[in-house]
Amino acid sequence: MAGLISLVLLGLLIAYIVLKPSRYNGTNSGKGVPVHILVLGDIGRSPRMTYHALSIAKHGGKVKLIGYLENPPHPDILANPNITLIPLPTPPSRPPSVPFLLFAPIKVIFQILHLTYLLLYLLPPSAWLLVQNPPSIPTLAVASLTSHLRNTNLIIDWHNYGWTILSSTKGPSHPFVSLSKIYETHLGRLGSHHLTVTHAMARQLRAPPYRIPPHKPMIPVHDRPAAIFQPILSPEERKDALIKVLFPSGRREFLRPLLNGDMKLLVSSTSWTPDEDFSLLLTALTMYAARADAVPVLAIITGKGPQKEMYTDRMEALKKEGKLPNVTILTAFLPFEEYASLLACADLGVCLHMSSSGVDLPMKVVDMFGAGLPVVAYGGYESFGELVKEGVNGRGFETGEELAGVLGGLLGPGGEEELKHLKKGAVEEGRRRWDEEWDGTVGRLMGFVDATS
Ligand SMILES: *[C@@H]1O[C@H](CO)[C@@H](O)[C@H](O)[C@H]1NC(C)=O
Ligand SMILES: *[C@@H]1O[C@H](CO)[C@@H](O)[C@H](O)[C@H]1NC(C)=O
Ligand SMILES: *[C@@H]1O[C@H](CO)[C@@H](O)[C@H](O)[C@H]1NC(C)=O
Repeated sequence: MAGLISLVLLGLLIAYIVLKPSRYNGTNSGKGVPVHILVLGDIGRSPRMTYHALSIAKHGGKVKLIGYLENPPHPDILANPNITLIPLPTPPSRPPSVPFLLFAPIKVIFQILHLTYLLLYLLPPSAWLLVQNPPSIPTLAVASLTSHLRNTNLIIDWHNYGWTILSSTKGPSHPFVSLSKIYETHLGRLGSHHLTVTHAMARQLRAPPYRIPPHKPMIPVHDRPAAIFQPILSPEERKDALIKVLFPSGRREFLRPLLNGDMKLLVSSTSWTPDEDFSLLLTALTMYAARADAVPVLAIITGKGPQKEMYTDRMEALKKEGKLPNVTILTAFLPFEEYASLLACADLGVCLHMSSSGVDLPMKVVDMFGAGLPVVAYGGYESFGELVKEGVNGRGFETGEELAGVLGGLLGPGGEEELKHLKKGAVEEGRRRWDEEWDGTVGRLMGFVDATS
């Protein structure tokens, strides 16, 4: 292993001496400035990096967007003359006979070699390199090395921490967790500029173990809803949207009660993974259904994921036992546009996201606010209040019992007024969109937007 790494490093050193990469010598701001954006993930499922690319391109920057091409990228990316896609080759997949511990280093070495070659030689030098973290291995190492050699400003966009995610999946005592923590905290300091998804994360990155020095700019940039998420304000529009959502799935019988308010529509989207405890919602719906004054509820749960079957079996069992009277739970995987319509015509959104770092925020709640949908969300982490304002645009809970209480209060007969008030708050929160947020933060940092404007 060590031999292999030394060999790779030696090879890179020789390549560097023989083929010295050119350095960037142009200006850092204004029209035509070259910017590289790197995400070691699927571009089609990286909305935030997609929005960064579109914003930079809109202000005249020349963007090279580097990442995997799996799901189709946003159509505006494909149509934009200022953005070039640089697809990364998919790393070889692990044959079942090769153990993970042997395969993982091989995959990482493949990524290091390819990314280094790409960023040092294949692409011309750029004024800025914007990288997403996580994943941090090997992106942070390659990005800091190549930016240094090419006189490029390195911006790290912190979405979360790789090591806390690893810790929540592998367990905190796994040796990879402490290794990746050391790696991420040390290399994270090498970025010349930093963006974060919350204020709480920005504060945390200045403190141990991260200790990003105070002279390096660090700017919180909150996620904002995409244009496709819009509130529905008239009853006619809501009817059309409900037809679009319910009819293809053969659920016409719910249209009338939903339209005249005899039934409430609850929406939750989940990745069906262990970091979102779906049993909280099942507990809450069971307790809600047992109330004498329960207004009937249709709960639509969207998303794909590994634990889906386990929970659908539990729902079936609860239904058979008669524990969910007046509550219908449907699961679905909806195309983007239908999902946006569903959010806009629902009465309440539920979010079960539990943050591994305590300082990130769930994008789905941002989208719910974009659609004017008030949210009940798990709130047991530090940055929660930066998005959901208790009693203004939503409510928080930490246990299934608390969630049941909130559902009973909001969906029951006396909850109309509060629900209306929360909806107003959600529409208000969703009104601030990405362009505005970006221009005032990243746009100024990179010099695309005049600081005095
Ligand atoms: C900047 O670098 C390019 C090659 O990357 C070179 O052709 C050009 O002469 C350099 N300009 C200055 C002012 O050094
Ligand atoms: C591309 O950049 C130019 C300036 O270089 C700008 O005028 C134009 O609006 C940009 N186009 C798009 C689609 O963002
Ligand atoms: C379902 O709701 C209706 C209307 O609110 C109510 O009359 C009925 O008793 C409820 N059914 C059950 C099984 O609780």
